[in-house]
Parts: sequence; structure tokens; C-alpha cells
Amino acid sequence: MSLQGRTALLAGATGLVGQSCLARLLEHPAYARVVVLARRPTGTSHDKLQEIRADFDALEGLTPLPPVDDVFIALGTTIKAAGSRPAFYKVDHDYVVSVAKLGKRAGARRLSLVSSVGADSTAMNFYLRVKGEAERDISDLGYECVDILRPSMLLGDRHEHRTGEALAAPILRAVSGAMMGPLRVYRPIEADDVAAAMVASLVSDGTAGVRVRTFDDIRRFAS
Ligand SMILES: NC(=O)c1ccc[n+]([C@@H]2O[C@H](COP(=O)([O-])OP(=O)(O)OC[C@H]3O[C@@H](n4cnc5c(N)ncnc54)[C@H](OP(=O)(O)O)[C@@H]3O)[C@@H](O)[C@H]2O)c1
Repeated sequence: MSLQGRTALLAGATGLVGQSCLARLLEHPAYARVVVLARRPTGTSHDKLQEIRADFDALEGLTPLPPVDDVFIALGTTIKAAGSRPAFYKVDHDYVVSVAKLGKRAGARRLSLVSSVGADSTAMNFYLRVKGEAERDISDLGYECVDILRPSMLLGDRHEHRTGEALAAPILRAVSGAMMGPLRVYRPIEADDVAAAMVASLVSDGTAGVRVRTFDDIRRFAS
């Protein structure tokens, strides 16, 4: 794998993890070009950056992308913001898998996806099942390497107010150190660490297959 002149495709670049991922990709020497697929401008200007405005319901009809090496997906919504379970499924499963398919058609062989701790396609919990189905369907696309990051609660400065997360974050921060053994995966984590790990893992670990990264792996790759 060449560590120079790579092209990244990024979806979710306007979000908490995605903004940080974009900044890291733009500054990383391995990447000569970063193609962002988004429904609104990122507000970032950079020689390496190419933004493609996209209707995620119509990705199939998008003009062909430039050749891509690596795909980074930090796209997602909440059931509350989406308005219904089917609308949430459309974003967190269908859009995510469509971006992965688009990247594959553009030649990408490696992909990094932000999923969630507990993701499981057989889970009773709807949110975790959707995340698990997205992981499963992306893993079946034939990428040489798929990184699945499974963070617990994301910490960081979010413009949008989320009451539940705002209430839970200080509590989880306070008890985080006491979450030991199998509970470590539930420790809250800085969104910036997740973004750093997405880039570092895909660039530095050349092993093939599906690699699941939870709290400790994410912190290790981020450091
Ligand atoms: N929040 C947490 O504590 C937590 C915990 C574990 C896992 N996760 C997962 O981690 C991932 C990243 O989370 P985050 O908090 O960084 O996300 P975020 O800040 O909510 O950003 C989500 C991104 O997805 C895009 N998006 C959402 N709905 C869209 C739609 N209908 N069409 C096109 N683009 C859409 C947003 O674009 P716009 O800016 O245009 O809306 C944004 O770029 C998500 O998959 C999330 O489920 C989150």
C-alpha cells in the first residue's frame, strides 16, 4: 500500500467526528486529495479538498467520483432528529451503505466506519441493530480492509443541543475511570480521538479483513 498520494472519500464531514476527521485527512502527508460528499458546505477551504454536494437519496445517479483509495464514514443521525425509525434507518443504514458502495465503485479498497459500542445486527435494541446491519452489509461489499470503530458516548463541542447526551456526559465522565474490565468499552471518548484513530488505523495497519476497534484500540491509535 502506497503511503503517499492517496485519495480519501469522506462522508459526515460536517459532524462532530467528521469535522475532526476532515482536518486530520487534510493535514496527513499520505493524502493528496480529500473528496467530501455532503449535503451542505463544510466551510473549510484547502488545496487538497474537493467537495461534492450530494442528495443522499440519489447517490446512484451521482456523476462518477474521481478514483478513491480509502473511504471514511462518520455519517449518522438520531431517531429524534430523523423523526421516525424508518427515517433513522435510511440515514444510519441506507446512506452509509450507499456511500460504501459508491467508494467501492470508485476503486477504494479500504474503508473506515464509525459505528457504535454494542452494534449487533441481531440486537433487540433498534439503534444497535441498525448499526450492526450497516456494519454487516459494509463488511460484505468486498473491501480488502474494513475498520469498524465502536465508540460509546462521544465527547466534544457540539453545536446542536442534545439534552440526553448533555445530561449523561458529565455523569459518564465522572464514572469513566471506574469502568473496568468488560465495562471499559462503555467509557465516553473524545470525538477527536475517534477521528484520529480512523485515520491512523487505516493508514498504519495494513492487515486485511474486518477490524473492530473499541475504546482501548481507539485510544491507542489516537495517541
Ligand atoms: N453521539 C454519540 O455519542 C455517538 C456514540 C456512538 C456512536 N455514534 C455514531 O458516530 C457517528 C458520528 O457521530 P457524530 O456525533 O459525529 O455525528 P453528527 O455530529 O450528528 O454528524 C453526522 C453527520 O451525518 C450527516 N447527516 C446526518 N443526517 C444526514 C442526512 N439526512 N443526509 C445527509 N447527511 C446527513 C450530517 O450532515 P449535516 O451536518 O448536513 O446534518 C453530519 O455530517 C454516527 O454514526 C453516530 O451514530 C455517536
